[in-house]
Amino acid sequence: MDWRIIRYDIVTSTQDVAREHASSDGAPGLVVLAGAQTEGRGRRGSRWQSAEGGLYVTVVLTPGGWIGLLPFLAGVVVSDAIMEVTGIRPLLKWPNDVLIDGMKVGGVLLETAWHGDGPRFTLLGIGVNVSNRLQDDLPRATTLSRELGSDVDRERILLSILARMEHLLPFLEADPDVILREWRARSQTLGRHVEVTDASGEMVCGMAVDLDEGGALIIETADGPRRVLSGRV
Ligand code: BTN
Repeated sequence: MDWRIIRYDIVTSTQDVAREHASSDGAPGLVVLAGAQTEGRGRRGSRWQSAEGGLYVTVVLTPGGWIGLLPFLAGVVVSDAIMEVTGIRPLLKWPNDVLIDGMKVGGVLLETAWHGDGPRFTLLGIGVNVSNRLQDDLPRATTLSRELGSDVDRERILLSILARMEHLLPFLEADPDVILREWRARSQTLGRHVEVTDASGEMVCGMAVDLDEGGALIIETADGPRRVLSGRV
């Protein structure tokens, strides 16, 4: 993979800047990195606090195969990159929150630009709290520096993420189960009692037992197994 990293001090959202670049040149492998974001966004319309000191990056990809598994792939590579650089092993909360001791340290946002019926490119946005200051309204979040008690090199985390992504991307097509296996091995969700608010707003309660081949969460409820495609645990 020929990664081309474009660095900015501050942007609205790396997702928007990457979309503009990709719409004009379209080539996969573009990586937009920002020192801070004024309008960083998270999943389900949430805001992503993006003060200076965090890692804010969007990777433009045009993968084949099961692109719906990309966020799971991203969770795995972010967890492993953090482990490599800090020695701390984060776990993954379905679908792709990166947690240290139950506190959120990173997240993944997948957006797709369509071209007729098919995807033209995907924007894989990754945010990691490294040494950025978090506002008090985020009590269940943490930063790597806080956990480690020392500074953490953002650039090393980024390079490790990209190298690991390059290794795992071909499995989306060749053997997607490998990605699900890697995700399961780092899961904080499976084997636990969960309450999930699904996309329609319905609450599903039960034991999270597995992922299906598309990454949906299988929950064993009092009324039998339920499959939840997207939602908040
Ligand atoms: C989430 O957990 O809700 C997903 C957070 C994703 C945040 C990243 S930071 C880089 C990229 N640009 C954005 O505006 N969002 C993603």
